[in-house]
Amino acid sequence: MQKQRITPEVRIELWDEEDLDLLRLLNSPEMTVHFGGPETEGKILARHKRYYEIAQKGTGRMFKILLLPDLEVVGSVGYWDQIWQGESVYEVGWSVLPAFQGRGIATVATSKAIASIHSEKKHRFIHAYPKINNPASNAICRKLGFSFIGECDFEYPIGTIIRCNNWKLTVGEME
Ligand SMILES: CC(C)(COP(=O)(O)OP(=O)(O)OC[C@H]1O[C@@H](n2cnc3c(N)ncnc32)[C@H](O)[C@@H]1OP(=O)(O)O)[C@@H](O)C(=O)NCCC(=O)NCCS
Repeated sequence: MQKQRITPEVRIELWDEEDLDLLRLLNSPEMTVHFGGPETEGKILARHKRYYEIAQKGTGRMFKILLLPDLEVVGSVGYWDQIWQGESVYEVGWSVLPAFQGRGIATVATSKAIASIHSEKKHRFIHAYPKINNPASNAICRKLGFSFIGECDFEYPIGTIIRCNNWKLTVGEME
């Protein structure tokens, strides 16, 4: 008989100035395999600033993921403005700490971030660009109803071209 998994209860909260320690945990070698390895301390501080300022700037939202009932801080999820083939779109991204992976947390947290996008409806499409060899992230796109568009080259981090899958969701489609 197949084992039933209970959907985790998570909350997402806007990233704030107190969340630097979480970013440091997400910057481990294990967590950055698909992003070219850990960033330097200077880059992490700059990323932290971007994360807590982005909502106020109006160019996206970054959240920390909290697992109920104990409100453990288990990862990050967010979206930001991106230009894709000349069109303004939302890009989404997610990370869950190793001890909490495989329970459906990234999927539920990302659905909450997408609900936040639906409440603002600034662009028509949401894209995600997981690396072709990142099965968990590609599975998340599939489970959330994104359409697979095709493979593409993507620059991440700046200066490094990686081979990714381009997934697309129409804003409003998941409501
Ligand atoms: C990718 C990541 C966020 C997934 O987090 P998570 O909370 O474990 O994800 P979920 O449990 O919600 O979903 C993962 C899905 O991928 C599936 N999956 C995992 N490994 C897989 C594999 N090798 N092949 C096929 N599917 C796989 C899981 O079975 C699960 O689907 P299911 O719920 O139908 O069983 C996490 O592994 C992570 O942070 N990795 C490092 C950073 C990263 O790669 N970020 C994403 C960049 S796009």
